[in-house]
Amino acid sequence: MAGDIKLSLIVARSRNGVIGKDGDLPWHLSGDLALFKTSTSGKPIIMGRKTWESLPRKPLPKRTNIVLTRDWAYAAIGARVYSSFSAAVAAARAIAAKDGEDEVFVIGGASLYERAIEMADRLYITEVDADIEGDTCFPEFDESEFTEAGRSVQAADEKNEYGFAFRVLERSAP
Ligand SMILES: NC(=O)c1ccc[n+]([C@@H]2O[C@H](COP(=O)([O-])OP(=O)(O)OC[C@H]3O[C@@H](n4cnc5c(N)ncnc54)[C@H](OP(=O)(O)O)[C@@H]3O)[C@@H](O)[C@H]2O)c1
Repeated sequence: MAGDIKLSLIVARSRNGVIGKDGDLPWHLSGDLALFKTSTSGKPIIMGRKTWESLPRKPLPKRTNIVLTRDWAYAAIGARVYSSFSAAVAAARAIAAKDGEDEVFVIGGASLYERAIEMADRLYITEVDADIEGDTCFPEFDESEFTEAGRSVQAADEKNEYGFAFRVLERSAP
C-alpha cells in the first residue's frame, strides 16, 4: 500500500552543517555520488527547483524525478512538476507502490529538507569530515528520535576530496 512506503531523506552535510554553495555542492566526493546512486536508483526522488537546476545531467536516470516549484508554468523536461509538497509525496508513493518499491526520497535542497525532516522515516546522511564555507545548511533536528542502523566510512583519497561517514538513521518507534 502507498501509505506504508517510507519517506527517506538523503543528504551530505559538513561538520558545520553546510550542504551547498552558490547553487551547487561545495565538494567533489565520488564515493558519495556512488552511494547516492545505489540508494536512490529505481525509487522516486523529490527535489526543489534549485536542486533540479543544479543537476549537471537531468533527469537523474532510472528514477522518477519530481520537481517542486510554485511556478505553475515551470517546465522540467523529463521530470514531473508539483506545486505542493504533500501532493508530490503522495504521487511519489503511488509510483513506488506501482513499481514494487518500499521508499521514496527527498534529495534536497534545504527548503525541502526543512519541510520533510519532521515526517521522515529514514535519513541517509553523509557526514563530510570538514568544516566548509557555504550558503545553504541542513536544518537542525533531534537525532535522539532516530537510531543508527548502518554506517560505512570512506577516507579522503584522489576521488574523494574529504573523508566521510555514510550513516543510515531509522526513526525510532514512538
Ligand atoms: N549536500 C547535499 O546533499 C545537497 C542536496 C541537494 C541540494 N544541495 C544544495 O542545496 C542548494 C539548493 O537548496 P535550496 O534550499 O536553495 O533550494 P531547493 O530546495 O533545491 O529549491 C528551492 C525551490 O523549490 C521550490 N519549493 C520549495 N519548497 C516548495 C514547496 N513547499 N512548494 C512548492 N515549491 C517549493 C521553490 O521553487 P520556485 O522558486 O521555482 O517556486 C523554491 O525556490 C544548492 O546549493 C544545492 O547544490 C545539497
